[in-house]
Amino acid sequence: MKDFWEQRYSEKGWAYGTEPNQFLSTQTARLKPGMKALVAGDGEGRNGVWLAQLGLDVLSVDYSAAGLRKARELAIAKGTRVNTECVDLTQWRWPVAAFDVVVAVYLHFSPDVRATMHRAMLQALKPGGVLILEAFNKNQLQYKSGGPAAGAMLYSSDELRADFSGAKIEFLEDTVAQLNEGKYHVGPGAVLRLVLTNLGGR
Ligand SMILES: C[S@@+](CC[C@H](N)C(=O)[O-])C[C@H]1O[C@@H](n2cnc3c(N)ncnc32)[C@H](O)[C@@H]1O
Repeated sequence: MKDFWEQRYSEKGWAYGTEPNQFLSTQTARLKPGMKALVAGDGEGRNGVWLAQLGLDVLSVDYSAAGLRKARELAIAKGTRVNTECVDLTQWRWPVAAFDVVVAVYLHFSPDVRATMHRAMLQALKPGGVLILEAFNKNQLQYKSGGPAAGAMLYSSDELRADFSGAKIEFLEDTVAQLNEGKYHVGPGAVLRLVLTNLGGR
């Protein structure tokens, strides 16, 4: 899969555009300057760069070097900066209790590692920290607006509830949204939108 993303991000232009994910952009009230944010699977950086523009201290992690090069380019173009780390998240030594915000947008893992990766996201949050996630749900196979081609890579709200058990779910929506993100996410899409707070240690 890494090669797939490397190739996609080597194309001209921005695969998912340069504006943040629409759901993420509705969450500004939770985001304050100076917060430490981890953007997991940030690709070409549209979400990390937007958070940096809001004054957050951003670490964008992805295993595509081409994607992260564009993320740094986008940050410069928008007059801000993001820190980047090029690593496979399934092999990464995830920081613990280190971030105020973790963002994961369309970051899909196979069933054998999904729950472990979601626990790592939760544990990367400080107590009181917030996770903002959007992913395609199982119904996405009937739409043509992007996402993994394999049903096993798509998520359900029950899986997310189980993966993040112990956290406080602030918002969880299973919906069909009108996507308009670059050239690869256009049209109706079946998505899950989640915001939760890490209660750990309190
Ligand atoms: C659909 S793209 C979304 C990119 C970005 N979040 C956005 O919304 O524009 C999925 C991203 O996840 C990254 N990714 C998938 N699996 C990964 C892994 N195991 N480690 C690091 N990055 C991964 C890919 O390289 C790709 O950039």
